[in-house]
Amino acid sequence: MDETEKELIRDRTDIVELIAGYTTLKPSGNRFKGLCPFHQEKTPSFTVDPERRRYHCFGCQASGDVFTFLEKIENLTFPEAAERLAMRAGITLSRRGTNPEEARRQQSERDRLFAANAAALRFFRQAYRRATLAQEYAAKRGLVQETMEDFGIGYAPDDWSQLAHFLIEREKVHPEDAIRAGLITASRVRDGEFTDRFRGRFLFPIVDVQERVIGFGGRLIVDKADAPKYLNSPETPIFSKSRTLYALNRARKAIQEQDIAVIVEGYMDVVASHQAGIRCVVATLGTSMTADHVSLLRRYTKNVVLSFDADNAGVKAALKAAELITAAGEDMTLKVLSLPPGEDPDSMIRKGDAAGFRKAIDNAMTVPEFQLGMLKRQSRLEDPYGCELFLREAAKIIAPLPNSLTINMLTKRIASTREVLRFLPESQAEAVLRQEVARQVGERGYRPTDFTEPSSNPSRSSERFADRNGKRPFRQPSSRAGWRERPPEPPPVPFVPQVAEEAERTLIRAIMAEEFLPEVRKRFPATKGALLFVNPLTERFLEIVEPALRGEGDPQDRLIRHDDPDLNAYVDAVLFSPVWSDARARLELSQEMIGDAILELRKRRINADADLQAEVLARVAARGGTFTPEDDEILRQITLRKSALRNGRQPAND
Ligand code: UTP
Ligand code: MN
Repeated sequence: MDETEKELIRDRTDIVELIAGYTTLKPSGNRFKGLCPFHQEKTPSFTVDPERRRYHCFGCQASGDVFTFLEKIENLTFPEAAERLAMRAGITLSRRGTNPEEARRQQSERDRLFAANAAALRFFRQAYRRATLAQEYAAKRGLVQETMEDFGIGYAPDDWSQLAHFLIEREKVHPEDAIRAGLITASRVRDGEFTDRFRGRFLFPIVDVQERVIGFGGRLIVDKADAPKYLNSPETPIFSKSRTLYALNRARKAIQEQDIAVIVEGYMDVVASHQAGIRCVVATLGTSMTADHVSLLRRYTKNVVLSFDADNAGVKAALKAAELITAAGEDMTLKVLSLPPGEDPDSMIRKGDAAGFRKAIDNAMTVPEFQLGMLKRQSRLEDPYGCELFLREAAKIIAPLPNSLTINMLTKRIASTREVLRFLPESQAEAVLRQEVARQVGERGYRPTDFTEPSSNPSRSSERFADRNGKRPFRQPSSRAGWRERPPEPPPVPFVPQVAEEAERTLIRAIMAEEFLPEVRKRFPATKGALLFVNPLTERFLEIVEPALRGEGDPQDRLIRHDDPDLNAYVDAVLFSPVWSDARARLELSQEMIGDAILELRKRRINADADLQAEVLARVAARGGTFTPEDDEILRQITLRKSALRNGRQPAND
């Protein structure tokens, strides 16, 4: 393609309209602004300049014209993008591809495969109209004529080479192309003879969002022992299962409008749902969900619901899907829906219970909610031991979650489980959960899980709840009464801060434990403020004991002399909290833990400082570049801390 043609396409393509199909654009002066479709962002830094016919992102520096935009967003080669834009603009390209022969060959091969599939579809449709057996099957599956038309469902006769003859002789499709498209195979026995891939099957064309037939899925209409129930086209240059969702072309409008996509397992589930008016439904093609599926859907909605089997494999698949969704962006949500055992969406709808399927979509739960529900059903909540086990297992489910608000919400919900409340008060159930979660987090962070089954002796369970005494690994301050005595019941600390505070708690424990003091001394940064703490009491604690870190005196003596009741209570709670005292048997302090804690606290400061600096600079910019003395001071402090972090006493091994 030459420059003139390129220019013509640029002229005839409304770049704003093209891009608006991928991200919402709002006018801003002579330009348009929106969230960048190429990277994650919360404030729009993506601009489109219709006059210059270019786009530019100030966030990720992506920029270009209609060609590069389409190439990048749809993952196309230049000839493919050009072709599509030309089609859109009603231009017939003189020559395809850029100059290299290869590009032309590639491009035309894809086209030849689309053409072969389109011809095959005509054949399957005709065959369906002639085959009573297939029509009966459609009726048996409850599919009406309109649905058959809408989805282009056809039939592959139970014969050997009808399609091959049709394609090669009637449609002049080159046998190589039909083979490459996965429609026929060359006979191993006789040269020039071909065998159809699909035989005796109900055929679902798989159509991409540009309405091109990229492959087929075929279901046996008479079950056979030696043939798979479903057979798909093989992977071809135009068909990749991991990147295709069945019926996305038909569902995408509803998905966008209803802001939800439901992923089911089978072709029939999709077709039946659409026929029942539930149109936001697509299916994977016999594979599990992939990151490509997620990014396909992401263009239309951020809310994905997965319909799956509530067996182990299903839960695994759902967990994997949840991971993919989380990876695709914090704003995306995955929920799972489960249907009554033995049912799929198609079978429910067939029974006249489309409402049941709709309800299942409405009642879909997040994966952890679903797991907790399953756990609850499997637990023996009628005895205290079963309840304890339930709490522990529940902690295992929620501990890995990335969002502490979710953890908090679920903790509260689990702790208020009615059956559990019969054996222990809610606050204590909550404490047990927090303790387990903290330990899970700790174990994941510092050593491989060594948590095995809890004691198999049920008689111990009541003691477990009541009794947390045991050997204390830390020296107890001895000279003051209120300080020596362990408070009878440490007040429950709010959950979220507790997890966030774990690093500073570790630091306090290390400082208070004689044997680790040298380790802390070695790693503690010299400059004040180089670490960021959640709890102001930690800050106060360090102020008091800081000389001890420089070798002047003993942390404990300093605390006792200082005699601040709040601080004493805090340190006591950290040293002897139920979480710590119960976990300590398994989770002894280690040098590694201390190193990690200090690193974590440094990292918090670095992140906070980066935000602070950006804030100051934004303020300065807004003021037209003038720095106030306060700004200077803040920036100076940041620089000081930065150099402290760089030069400060680093652990020997990092
Ligand atoms: P299922 O075995 O769950 O069947 O396959 P289904 O969807 O309920 O089909 P009907 O109702 O019996 O017609 C679910 C999906 O798994 C893939 C297909 O994509 C199918 O739609 N599959 C299944 C295969 O690819 N090959 C098979 O042999 C079976
Ligand atoms: Mn089914």
